[in-house]
Amino acid sequence: MDVPDDPRIAIDGGTRVLVVTGAGISAESGLATFRGAGGLWEGQRVEDVATPEGFATDPGLVWRFYSARRAAALAAQPNPAHLALAAVEGRLEDRFLLVTQNVDGLHRRAGSRRLIEIHGSLFRTRCSRCDLPPFADESLHESGAPGCERCAARGRRADLRPDIVWFGELLDSDHLRRVEAFAEEGPGERLVFVAVGTSGNVWPVAGFVDLAAAVGGETWLVNLEPAHNDWRFDRIVRGAAGEVLPVLLGVVG
Ligand code: OAD
Repeated sequence: MDVPDDPRIAIDGGTRVLVVTGAGISAESGLATFRGAGGLWEGQRVEDVATPEGFATDPGLVWRFYSARRAAALAAQPNPAHLALAAVEGRLEDRFLLVTQNVDGLHRRAGSRRLIEIHGSLFRTRCSRCDLPPFADESLHESGAPGCERCAARGRRADLRPDIVWFGELLDSDHLRRVEAFAEEGPGERLVFVAVGTSGNVWPVAGFVDLAAAVGGETWLVNLEPAHNDWRFDRIVRGAAGEVLPVLLGVVG
């Protein structure tokens, strides 16, 4: 791995860019990251608020946790890092793909459309039991879990839940296929992979860098602190995403 002095990625008509983002990209929008000092998990056990077992045990606690996160995300604004990625997408179109682990909706609000929200969205709700299609929902459920009406019509009780992928749950296989296909497409084009604001603790996303490296891609990590998977990257830039990304991606001079 190499720590460049004047980090910039050369992006031209033959470059494809695959980006993975994590909680760190939203830190400058005022949203807490998961791990580290002041992290979101502080004061809450992950098992209690981010697993199906935790939800089955205390759905009210889980809804209070995610209601607070909905409120914070709604009050936050996209920052220069989100905007830089949307600007690069505007230039590269189909040669760009953004995969975010974040559920805060800030990439979409910044204008990103070639976007996979691989851990779900804070702003969708679904049934914990039936196949009710996930629906848009910005409401706060602080006094307990709302019930599923489709299940009620069938004479049984089931709680609605946030449409978020929790620990112990599978990612959408269509999402994984789309990421792999993007990494492998474009013969003759140069693939650049950039991970931003992610501690590299959660799989399989922490291993996407290997997909890019396997097809000869150039791999960059932009992160404030050392990440768990640092050693997998060709180039590391330590710094705040909102300051680094606009320059790194050539959005500002
Ligand atoms: P983490 O909280 O684990 O890591 C955030 C990383 O961002 C840390 O390594 C920080 O150093 C870095 N960071 C903080 N501020 C930054 C800034 N301004 N610019 C650049 N980097 C900064 O968050 P994730 O890696 O996203 O999953 O966590 C992965 C998954 O763990 C989450 O999607 C979530 C959680 O379980 C689910 O909820 C399913």
